[in-house]
Amino acid sequence: MQIKSPKYIYDFFNGVIQGENVKHYKKLYKEIDFIYKTRDNQLSPDTVMYEVYSFNEGGSNILLWGLTVIYPITINGECNMTRGHFHEDREEPEIYFGCSGEGLLLYLDSQGKIFAEKVFKGSLHYIHGNYAHRLVNTGDDTLRVGACWREAAGHDYKSIDEKPFPNRVYKKDGKIDIA
Ligand SMILES: [Fe+2]
Repeated sequence: MQIKSPKYIYDFFNGVIQGENVKHYKKLYKEIDFIYKTRDNQLSPDTVMYEVYSFNEGGSNILLWGLTVIYPITINGECNMTRGHFHEDREEPEIYFGCSGEGLLLYLDSQGKIFAEKVFKGSLHYIHGNYAHRLVNTGDDTLRVGACWREAAGHDYKSIDEKPFPNRVYKKDGKIDIA
């Protein structure tokens, strides 16, 4: 029997996903400045707000493993966050897990009902397919969150652009304020 080295390496709590099929992109401030309540003209448009890593091996039923790295930046007091999305297929769930840092996972249903769960190293989150989801970095360090989902889920950003999350997360004098 041949024993192979793994194709992918992932130091869960400190590293990023590495391997031959790993895709990686950076989300810059200028690409997502519209998701925040206000604009910060002091912040360079090329500031990296978050980065996403993922891999899959193709096939007819694709399972993805991913990592989102969200930097501790505030925009006029508003905590940095991901764009957030529904799944195109509202039957498809996803699992998130906290790797490092502190944050909130916002859940929003199609009726506009919202709630959040705390995210921290070791936290696990089952996101049912009918909830949009957004990560917010509320800490002073980088927030790193792993994810597992099927490609069949797809990403629906349009619904969030048209009907945004009703609450925003701010940090004032080190305290979290939800407005
Ligand atoms: Fe998702």
